[in-house]
Amino acid sequence: MVAPRRRASVTQTLADACVTSGPHAPEGEERFVSGSHESTTTVPLGSPEMNRNPQPTYREMRESAAVMPVVDSLVVVSRRSDVEEVFRRPDVFSSNMSAVDLQNVRPLIPLQIDPPEHKKYRRILDPLFAPRQMARLEEPVAQLVNDLIDGFDGRDEIDFATEFSIPLPSQVFLTLLGLPLDELPRFLAMKDGIIRPEHVTGTVRQSETAQAHQREAARSIYAYFDEILDERQAKGRDDLLTTFLHSEVDGHRLTREDILDICFLFLIAGLDTVTASLDCMFAYLAQHPERRRQLVEDPGLVPAAVEELLRWESPVMMVSRVAMDDTELDGCPIRRGDHVSVLIGSANTDDSEFGDGDEVRFDRDPNRHLAFGGGIHRCLGSHLARQELRVTLREGHRRIPDYSIKPGHTLDYTTGIRSIYHFPMVLGQP
Ligand code: HEM
Repeated sequence: MVAPRRRASVTQTLADACVTSGPHAPEGEERFVSGSHESTTTVPLGSPEMNRNPQPTYREMRESAAVMPVVDSLVVVSRRSDVEEVFRRPDVFSSNMSAVDLQNVRPLIPLQIDPPEHKKYRRILDPLFAPRQMARLEEPVAQLVNDLIDGFDGRDEIDFATEFSIPLPSQVFLTLLGLPLDELPRFLAMKDGIIRPEHVTGTVRQSETAQAHQREAARSIYAYFDEILDERQAKGRDDLLTTFLHSEVDGHRLTREDILDICFLFLIAGLDTVTASLDCMFAYLAQHPERRRQLVEDPGLVPAAVEELLRWESPVMMVSRVAMDDTELDGCPIRRGDHVSVLIGSANTDDSEFGDGDEVRFDRDPNRHLAFGGGIHRCLGSHLARQELRVTLREGHRRIPDYSIKPGHTLDYTTGIRSIYHFPMVLGQP
């Protein structure tokens, strides 16, 4: 039986919080109340405290209103079983262009493509991002990590974000695409123009200034890759862009527009996610020296630690879907056109899957976390991301076994994708 739709008053929805708040939002402003006739729960969604330490809020949500209509057209899903159900039903819960608007003019490939067409693209892309292909990046990634560390050799304080976690994933991507590393500033500007135009322009995300900046960033991304593809078309190289131009599965070839729509998505999906994972992992390890010591003494633990910290921190807190039909989840009615925020972080700490979801254990096995999502849209770049994270944790702890957050500084995490803009880190023994 379908339960009556539970209502919630809201001062800022999770979706808004996800894109508009970040570290600049005043503490306590984004609280909403979810309640049935019998009970009322206050959940500090999107607050700095929740972004820093989201697991207690996830638990509260799972226990109070697992499928929670926040405002008329937004539903938040927090239990493991419901999150898995959303991922299993992409025909009903779509990630098409209306799930998230990034000022792209065509659907991003493959994220905003519904089945069955989606499969056609994954069959071309999956082999290019398979573990064996990504293993070839071991050496170049280790080199990039060590070069960045060399850059602050001898210093006793750095900003981990600006000097390490922001440049590294973009440098890896430039390497993969066969582009020179001095394109880094341009790459970062294009990515930030789409993901955080409000930050770049110093306004709010809905402002005309921010939107215009985002549109211009989108235009520059298409133009930038179009030009490079012209070059690769004229003279191929041993890089991903040249491979895209010649890839074919079952007679299907990628068109120029397809490749542009894939490259656009890579900028959105493949850079900030790794930055946020590095931020979350190093912040955790800075604050848990006993865990850090485990990795320093036994680097063989790094792969398991990466999985466990991806689970616990869930750097991508949530993903978005739009309902294609009237349906229901866990007894809660969902109407066609409703937006659904799927709380991956909550599914990743749900005791129904993990037993002791609030414990961080580097020996967790099995560890069926959903940090890379699930179902047909599960992360294409998971093997690349794992490679980057493993090499960084291994080399980072080999070169710098002791580090801590600068005394007196409180880290602020952004909402949605949990990166840290300003991360002062003290190197060496305190
Ligand atoms: C630790 C780092 C990363 C995390 C936590 C992460 C997380 C995710 C998640 C949760 C999704 C599912 C989105 C949804 O269902 O709406 C996703 C999809 C995707 N990710 Fe990642 N990602 C990471 C790194 C990367 C990298 C390095 C790439 C570069 C290729 C990448 C490319 C993609 C693509 C193309 C999709 C869409 C797949 C599809 O729709 O079929 N990701 N990622």
